[in-house]
Amino acid sequence: MILGVDYYPEHWPETMIAEDIERMKTAGVNTVRIGEFAWHLMEPTEGQYDFSYFDHVVQLLKAADIHIIFGTPTATFPAWLAKRHPEIIATTAFGIQHAFGGRRLYCYNIDVYREKAKAITKALVTHYRDEKAIIAWQIDNEIGHEGSDQCYCKTCHHVFHDFLMTKYGHIHALNEAYGTVFWGQTYNDFEEVPMPTPTITQHNPGLALDWARFRSESIYQYVDGLTNVVRQHCGKHQRVLHNLYGGYFDRAFDQVRFSEVFDMIGYDHYPVWGGLKAPISPAHITMALSYMRGLKHRPFWVVEAIMGAQGHDYIGYMPRENQALMWSLHALAHGSEALLYFRWRGMTHGAEQFCQGILDADNRDNQKLNEVITCFKLANTNESVLTTPIEAAVALCYDYDNRWSWHAQPQSDALNYTDLLAHYYNAFYRHNTFVDVRSINAVMTGTFSDYRILVMPIMQIVDDQMLQWLKRFVENGGILITGFRSGIKGRHNQLLFGSNAFAAFCGIQVEGFESLGAGLSCPVICDEDRQTTEFGTIGRDLIVPVSASALWHYGDTGFEQYAALTVQTHGKGAVYYLGTCFAETIMLNLAERVLGAQGIKSRKTPAGLECIQKGDATVWVNHNHENTCFEDKCFSPYEVRFETVDANE
Ligand code: GAL
Repeated sequence: MILGVDYYPEHWPETMIAEDIERMKTAGVNTVRIGEFAWHLMEPTEGQYDFSYFDHVVQLLKAADIHIIFGTPTATFPAWLAKRHPEIIATTAFGIQHAFGGRRLYCYNIDVYREKAKAITKALVTHYRDEKAIIAWQIDNEIGHEGSDQCYCKTCHHVFHDFLMTKYGHIHALNEAYGTVFWGQTYNDFEEVPMPTPTITQHNPGLALDWARFRSESIYQYVDGLTNVVRQHCGKHQRVLHNLYGGYFDRAFDQVRFSEVFDMIGYDHYPVWGGLKAPISPAHITMALSYMRGLKHRPFWVVEAIMGAQGHDYIGYMPRENQALMWSLHALAHGSEALLYFRWRGMTHGAEQFCQGILDADNRDNQKLNEVITCFKLANTNESVLTTPIEAAVALCYDYDNRWSWHAQPQSDALNYTDLLAHYYNAFYRHNTFVDVRSINAVMTGTFSDYRILVMPIMQIVDDQMLQWLKRFVENGGILITGFRSGIKGRHNQLLFGSNAFAAFCGIQVEGFESLGAGLSCPVICDEDRQTTEFGTIGRDLIVPVSASALWHYGDTGFEQYAALTVQTHGKGAVYYLGTCFAETIMLNLAERVLGAQGIKSRKTPAGLECIQKGDATVWVNHNHENTCFEDKCFSPYEVRFETVDANE
């Protein structure tokens, strides 16, 4: 198993490197990641490449039999480059150019930056192509993160026009698609089309969606160019990867398409980060791992794992004793094949002084180092359990067009796309059933039998191909869980006119939609006993069943006639329509019902206690800060317990 740390030897006096490596070795490190912000060290003045510093580092690591993942350094460019070509720096939506000083500052569409980035990448990769110790190249660092998916400079505006021209051919087609007759916004020429920078009220939703697609395309083109350079010049034994970050749905960046250019997907795994007072929920943490695994539908590498509090200006939550250890083993059990901690030692200078590493500024062995050592030992001892392949019968489906369309118009201020998906994910997670998180397009390229249950919330943009595929999935025995606002829009982000084909498929008519803002909820009553009450949030569809059966109704005056949850059978399967975002209890019962109907094994455990079935072995993970008991077992805070079946039993 690939186990190690992110190491920045250039932050420290050269005399410390040998001792660092010796300590790493003792800790069980077999791989380090280096280099991803060190462009200036490799090209101190334009065109003068110098890799001697890293030659030395590579030799020392190699002598210790430590493998290397080398990061290409384009996430931070040298100051001389910014001085010579100031246009490479991205511009905010307010038309203000960022200042040199942070990171991820470049515009993806500036030719001179693309060329310079390719040139340093080519020189670096060529220099080390025969180096056996270097097992992989990480391209750049966290592309799109920290708002770096956006740039509103003049070049981006021109390239956007080209993008629209290629897409629509003629300006009339764009006018038609966007419905620019509204507010008299009809364009005579592509050059008149604005970028969605601040305006009074709103931009056209079609424009907003095309802008997100354009940003994603800009990122893709930039990365595809760099990856091609690496592939042309790297050694055959060297793999190519990228490290993605936690806020994957928050950016104008289709990571599924992006992932296609890589051999591996890397993930920077921070269940809590700067400024947060508490970690995200266990379901949310696990959903992120399922998402990473879903991108290429195979295992991924955690190339940055948290081992201490993080923060730039504000320092976030400090992981409790054994909590970061628990998160690490948990990630390995959920499909990561590698685990590298960020970072060997926190840096005393620079913007990340407060991003803790394993070692602190006092450089002494500490509890964090003990946890790292324990993690590596347990990972090695339990490698066969941890790497047992995951086969999920349930998939949670998303779609980037939909994500971006919700971003432009959330419709309810209580809506957060990722949180909502995590809410649905949680229902199955609590039953300890594996769930793949995948794009609906990727699922549709598979066969109907790949999954028994598809969970597909708030898919407001649909097309006929999707609808037909889902119908056949259900007829063939699949269960689909969908719901409010589904199927109301087309690919141009406009409301569909006429009867809603999606609702017809679900055997219902939707007579209206009420948005429930933050803090608002609607009561719901169970049809079975006409007694049990619960609530829904975010919004509600007013459902009139046509051929579907109602399971829940709304409970407040004026709304009692409308169903809140329905089920419609088709062939061998069924489609459930959830009119609102139901409380957890209802979601848990629904998950239990559909898992049971499909004969999928499940085991509900107390909140925070996870039971991961890997073949015959079980990995118990206690996410709680308290002792947690279940059946005849008790688990201490943050305990991870491996239960393997003895072959002789
Ligand atoms: C990651 C990033 C690292 C470092 C770390 C701090 O997102 O890739 O370079 O900034 O966060 O927590």
